[in-house]
Amino acid sequence: MSEAMKAITIPTFGGPEVLSYTTVPKSTPILGEALIHVRAFGVNHAEMHMRKGEWDEWNPITGLECVGIVETCPGGEFPVGAKVAGVMGGLGRSRPGSYGEFVTVPVENVILIEDTKLPWEELAALPEVYCTAWSCLFTVLDLQRGETLLIRGATSTIGQAALNLAADASALVTATTRREERLEWLRGMGATDAVLEQSGLDQQLQTRRFDKTLNLVGNRVLLESIRLTRTGGRMLQAGWLGGLAPVEDFNPMVQMESGVHFSLFHSKVLGTPDFPLSAIPLQDIVRKIENGVWDAKPAKVFEYGDIHSAHKMLDSHDAGGKIVVKH
Ligand SMILES: NC(=O)c1ccc[n+]([C@@H]2O[C@H](COP(=O)([O-])OP(=O)(O)OC[C@H]3O[C@@H](n4cnc5c(N)ncnc54)[C@H](OP(=O)(O)O)[C@@H]3O)[C@@H](O)[C@H]2O)c1
Repeated sequence: MSEAMKAITIPTFGGPEVLSYTTVPKSTPILGEALIHVRAFGVNHAEMHMRKGEWDEWNPITGLECVGIVETCPGGEFPVGAKVAGVMGGLGRSRPGSYGEFVTVPVENVILIEDTKLPWEELAALPEVYCTAWSCLFTVLDLQRGETLLIRGATSTIGQAALNLAADASALVTATTRREERLEWLRGMGATDAVLEQSGLDQQLQTRRFDKTLNLVGNRVLLESIRLTRTGGRMLQAGWLGGLAPVEDFNPMVQMESGVHFSLFHSKVLGTPDFPLSAIPLQDIVRKIENGVWDAKPAKVFEYGDIHSAHKMLDSHDAGGKIVVKH
């Protein structure tokens, strides 16, 4: 008889209250997978959409990422007892995710974390956020030292990580927030300039055009974000803080600028051959955070037994940073 483990499941779609504690068979890894004993996990907007039944792919055991200890690894890619992060690779989508006590993760989606003093809940705030921000900046946008970068939605968790990484790479970052009182904070984080986030930003910034643009606000400002990017530059849309409504009356022949490269990033590709996790310096990132160079502490930490409060906070969109659940 297989062993059992605790899990939080989505038995039916709805509000935070639908999440249920249950017991399920403990996962058994096959070759090419690692079984991780989950110690903490970051909570993601996608999990709220999955819980509500609004996502294309979902699993009753949701959870896109975690940090924990390798319990078994049949192929030996990771030693038993190693501290690791697991992220994407179908977690919470095509396979059970990190809301279980244990989770099997394809080895391509596991990252070794060397010795660190960071507690589990602080480590848990990093994998999805920093892997996404790093891939956006350095794989898709190919950000280079000295280039100008516009980050729209820079106070979001992904935006803050992108600002930290871009400033560290000596890019000249203009960061946006809707709140005047946060402008100085963004400058303090390394933005060379901070401006108010609003529709018509291209009018406000007049002739300024950026080498690269990271648009986390989404479709609502897609076309003007292209207009804010120079000919030959790149505009990447990787968020939808302004909602998922499509761009109305979109006519590229009339509305798009010539010569600006536009692309999209979705973190579900992390760990695929085009976006290998081995390229992402997560260990260096952990070190910087441990040494206090960057602040990446979770905004809210909840106990495993308090998932309903964690999802209420997620639904409120008012966490002010990453929400983490720890065992
Ligand atoms: N592409 C991917 O793979 C990927 C991965 C993870 C997340 N995402 C997406 O990336 C975005 C950021 O995620 P997150 O978890 O980092 O967000 P978050 O931490 O929840 O961001 C919250 C902040 O976003 C800003 N914001 C909220 N509504 C806004 C609006 N209507 N217009 C402009 N700014 C708004 C607010 O900052 P101010 O009040 O300071 O303006 C708010 O404090 C989300 O759309 C998320 O779904 C994408």
